[in-house]
Amino acid sequence: MIGKLNHVAIAVPDLDAATTLYRDTLGAKVSEAVDQPDHGVTTVFVELPNTKIELLYPLGENSPIAGFLAKNQAGGIHHVCYEVEDIRAAAEKLKADGMRILGDGEPKIGAHGKPVLFLHPKDFCGTLVELEEV
Ligand code: CO
Repeated sequence: MIGKLNHVAIAVPDLDAATTLYRDTLGAKVSEAVDQPDHGVTTVFVELPNTKIELLYPLGENSPIAGFLAKNQAGGIHHVCYEVEDIRAAAEKLKADGMRILGDGEPKIGAHGKPVLFLHPKDFCGTLVELEEV
């Protein structure tokens, strides 16, 4: 069902420092910072030849990554995103297998303008998993 690794998301306490680290120290191609008010984050994408790294920084009062950064003050891996061809079919299969989908279980438009779902970390080896339809 799952295909390519679309991205690994890393929550960071200092977006400028993280961007500089990836661009200048690691020599990667990085995007501009983009505010995503619908998601409560500001993102910078690091483009690698085979996947992307999504740097996440809290935006606004109720950012979904604020709690994560409070517990992980140096930052840390927040989620991994796998590609699927049909997100509704994927959701039905996962629900039939007893997996928990976060929120109301309906796909939402994610940070890249494509439908996404998040799966409960306790069902996936302690890792928050995002599925993105491509
Ligand atoms: Co993501």
